[in-house]
Amino acid sequence: MLDAAQAENLFNKLYGEIKGYEISTASRAKETNVDSSRMLYGELPFTTWQKIVEFANPKADGVFFDLGSGTGRVVLESYLLFSFKKVVGVELLSGLHNKACEVKENFEKNFKPAIAENFSGRELQLINGDIFKTNLSEADFIFMNHPFKDGEIFMELEKKFLKELKPGTKIATIIRSLKSPEFKQLGKQSYKFSWGDSTTHFCEV
Ligand SMILES: C[S@@+](CC[C@H](N)C(=O)[O-])C[C@H]1O[C@@H](n2cnc3c(N)ncnc32)[C@H](O)[C@@H]1O
Repeated sequence: MLDAAQAENLFNKLYGEIKGYEISTASRAKETNVDSSRMLYGELPFTTWQKIVEFANPKADGVFFDLGSGTGRVVLESYLLFSFKKVVGVELLSGLHNKACEVKENFEKNFKPAIAENFSGRELQLINGDIFKTNLSEADFIFMNHPFKDGEIFMELEKKFLKELKPGTKIATIIRSLKSPEFKQLGKQSYKFSWGDSTTHFCEV
C-alpha cells in the first residue's frame, strides 16, 4: 500500500495513454461471440474510487472484486492505494481484459520491483469471464460500475449474491441499488464519474 500521492502518480503513469471507451467500442464490434448490446462502459476518477472505499469501509485485508472491470483501473487503484490481500477484476470483453493484463505487466515489470515491499503476500488477479459464471464466495467487498442496462439482469445478480456471498460482504453499486430486503442498506452518496455525477449505493449481505 502506497501513500495517496504516490499511488495516484503511479496510476496516472499506468493509465495516462489508455482510451477505455475506444477499446470498449472496438471490442464490442469485433467480439461477435459476446452479446454486448446491453453492456455499458464508463470510468471513474482516481479520487472517486478513493472516496467510495472510504465510505464503504470494507475489511482492510479482505478480498475485493470489481465486476465488469474494463481496463482494470479500479482493480489497479485498489492494489496500489489499499491493503486488500487480493483484488480481482472480472471482464467479459477480451479487448478490455487484454488491456488490463498489459497494464498489470507494465506495472509488474517496470514499477513494482522498486516498491515490492508494499505488495508482499498480496494478489492481483484479472479474469476474462462473465460475472454470472464467477464464484464470488471469497469476496469481502464488491464493486459494480453499472455494467449493463437491464433491471432484470440485476435481479438475477441479486439472487446470485444472496446465494453465494458470505455474511458481512459489502457491495457498492453505481446508479442502480440492490432491491431485495435481505440486503442491509448502508447509505448512498453522489460522486463524479466519467459521464458526470451519479449515485453510489452501499449495502451489506
Ligand atoms: C461501466 S464499465 C466499468 C469499468 C470499470 N469497472 C471501471 O469502473 O473503470 C462496465 C464493464 O462491465 C463489463 N461487463 C458487462 N457485462 C459483463 C458481464 N456479464 N461479465 C463481465 N463483464 C461485464 C463491460 O464490458 C464494461 O467493461
